Amino acid sequence: MVNSKRLRHCVAVGAFLIACTALYGSAAVQDKPAQDKPAHPLDVPYVPTPPNVVEAMLKMAHVTPSDTVYDLGCGDGRIVVMAAEKYGAHGVGIDLDPQRITEANENAKAARVTDKVKFIVGDVFTSDFSQATVVTMYLLPSVNEKLMPKLKAMKPGTRIVTHAFTFGDEWPYEQKQDVDGKTIYFWTVK
Ligand SMILES: C[S@@+](CC[C@H](N)C(=O)[O-])C[C@H]1O[C@@H](n2cnc3c(N)ncnc32)[C@H](O)[C@@H]1O
Repeated sequence: MVNSKRLRHCVAVGAFLIACTALYGSAAVQDKPAQDKPAHPLDVPYVPTPPNVVEAMLKMAHVTPSDTVYDLGCGDGRIVVMAAEKYGAHGVGIDLDPQRITEANENAKAARVTDKVKFIVGDVFTSDFSQATVVTMYLLPSVNEKLMPKLKAMKPGTRIVTHAFTFGDEWPYEQKQDVDGKTIYFWTVK
């Protein structure tokens, strides 16, 4: 008998990898000048979260103007930009790929939230995100699990929302929501 939780997990990872293959099949990520290249291979390929899912993630975390939202592996900055534009929060996005950070800064400028947000070229494993009141992540299960000790050691009350993947059985989620076929999860640091 196939364990249905394990099957759902495999389907989610499979769907993510198919989306990655589609994106990476394009020329967009190839032949970049050296200064635009990540310092080392990405631990997670770039797949953006759809806007309606971003909105659901920010609602799930009850983001307000007093929050500082960190998106670990921020891509084009859409989560942090929406947190500032729609919910008045401050935000920081960290991504290993300088090209993504260029796009994030352009998106912040277009949304007129450059006074509220900051984007940093950096590695999620070595970056300091201890000032976050909300952490958002769309990474892979293995990356989530590697970050778990640092997240669990954050200030009590820090909220964490992930798209698609959890921390495994070791840190059960408090809430789960399906959004148009995507799944998001919520934790609070105790
Ligand atoms: C699945 S995308 C998510 C993008 C964005 N958070 C969103 O939800 O739309 C994962 C992102 O993580 C970045 N990434 C991969 N490995 C990283 C690392 N070690 N440190 C920082 N960012 C990383 C990739 O460049 C990519 O933009």
